[in-house]
Amino acid sequence: MRVLVLGGGSFVGRAIAEDFLREGHELTLFSRGRTGSGLFPGVPRRAGDRDTGDYASLREGAWDAVVDVSAYVPRHVAQAAGALGERAGRYVFISSNAVYRPGGGPGADEDAPRLPPERGTEEIGRDTYGPLKVACEEEVLSRYGRRATIVRPGIVAGPYDQQDLFTYWVRRAARGGRVALPGDPGQPVQVLDSRDLARLVVLLVTGDRPGVFNAVGPAEPVTLGGLIQACAAAAGSRVRVVPVPSGAVPGGFPLVRADPVWALSFQRSAARARAAGMPATPLEVTAADVLAWDRGRGEPPLAVGLSPREEDALLAGAGREGRG
Ligand SMILES: NC(=O)c1ccc[n+]([C@@H]2O[C@H](COP(=O)([O-])OP(=O)(O)OC[C@H]3O[C@@H](n4cnc5c(N)ncnc54)[C@H](OP(=O)(O)O)[C@@H]3O)[C@@H](O)[C@H]2O)c1
Repeated sequence: MRVLVLGGGSFVGRAIAEDFLREGHELTLFSRGRTGSGLFPGVPRRAGDRDTGDYASLREGAWDAVVDVSAYVPRHVAQAAGALGERAGRYVFISSNAVYRPGGGPGADEDAPRLPPERGTEEIGRDTYGPLKVACEEEVLSRYGRRATIVRPGIVAGPYDQQDLFTYWVRRAARGGRVALPGDPGQPVQVLDSRDLARLVVLLVTGDRPGVFNAVGPAEPVTLGGLIQACAAAAGSRVRVVPVPSGAVPGGFPLVRADPVWALSFQRSAARARAAGMPATPLEVTAADVLAWDRGRGEPPLAVGLSPREEDALLAGAGREGRG
């Protein structure tokens, strides 16, 4: 199939592009040419900029499907759709679990209530990211109807992840010993392997499937404590999780949801995506692959979490409890 990916150079889009190429599809990539421009030699590229609305390079060509990984505001969708006209078959939009109202609870599906759409700003921040994605979804649905497919990933993890949320725990667990957790080890958590997300997208495109799909993982329910142990198992290390007060680290902590309402958001159902064929890579496999990638790139400083020195100070405060 002829597939146009709007994006494809960093993490989620990169995994999607790799999967399409593995299956031998005819791919075209659209981006500004700043990120991952050395990837996928031989794959045709069209240059443009969604921020300035420059889609001139898409004036020619027709595609069976468009996979939009890089739309964050409804104008991005509206302008891309306007530029493509009827030359695109299916429009697959990579949305986010952030479209949902906080909460939801075990098994919440795609009909869970969403936040109101945001159309009054293009500032993407903690409070506007989800509502802007809701507005993007509305734009996709109103323009494409049955030709629209919406995928709502939760937190995605895997090699080339730029967010560091899962990578922090992979790296920390590999170091072993007492691990400070500013949160509840029993908190539910959901982390989806980027390759599982990519497979889902390819299946939805090749199967010409409309609809809305939650994309969360892994298959079995997991807690934060369990996730850290899975990361340790992947690294062959031994860890002892030491809970410390969640307020001990201002600004939040990777995968920790101190507010129990937000923790409920980590229990969404991916039943529809699984029925469509989304695989369920075991967490230990994702962790092992992230560990190998992180080591291969030389373990650069992460944007989140604690440095070993900061963690030692917290653990000293936590006393002898959990020592081992
Ligand atoms: N990571 C997660 O946990 C997670 C969770 C839920 C949803 N998501 C969704 O997944 C997507 C993020 O994927 P990703 O960044 O990893 O995707 P990606 O497709 O691998 O990388 C982003 C691509 O977008 C291009 N791009 C960025 N700004 C652009 C612009 N103004 N005009 C044209 N192209 C532009 C970049 O290339 P250039 O820089 O060369 O332009 C790059 O190729 C988002 O839609 C996000 O909401 C992610």
